[in-house]
Amino acid sequence: MKNILILALILFLSACGAKMMELSNADAERGASKFPGLTMTELTHGKAQYEKNCQSCHGLYAPGSKNEMQWRLIVPAMVNKANKKMGKMEVPIDSANQQSILKYVITMGTAPVKK
Ligand code: HEC
Repeated sequence: MKNILILALILFLSACGAKMMELSNADAERGASKFPGLTMTELTHGKAQYEKNCQSCHGLYAPGSKNEMQWRLIVPAMVNKANKKMGKMEVPIDSANQQSILKYVITMGTAPVKK
């Protein structure tokens, strides 16, 4: 019985964890007030690009761990690093994808509940 309760607790907590990083329309709307025209599609794309390109050398930094000014300096520098490290067979991060990553981390970094 005790084990079942612990298992239920673990499942409950991991479900909450997954939900926290889910993007909502409210996120897209908040982002669009800073980046006019930002859509849920681009925000989702930015998240995917961030997760794909930004955790090969270190873990993913939480968007809320840096402020907007810091991200604006860090993202271009890290995109450079990432592109240099890539092998010839890989597709480098282009400026459109760099922008999507930037919009994602800044938008999610200003979420009411820090992510
Ligand atoms: C080629 C390896 C590599 C890749 C790929 C990489 N990083 Fe980094 N990152 C580093 C290293 C090394 C540091 C620590 C030294 C530094 O700040 O340059 C770092 C530090 C950071 C920091 C902390 C900076 C600070 O001042 O606290 C952030 C945030 C970060 N990276 C974000 C990113 C993002 C966003 C991406 C994807 C675009 C990314 N990284 C991809 C190597 C990488």
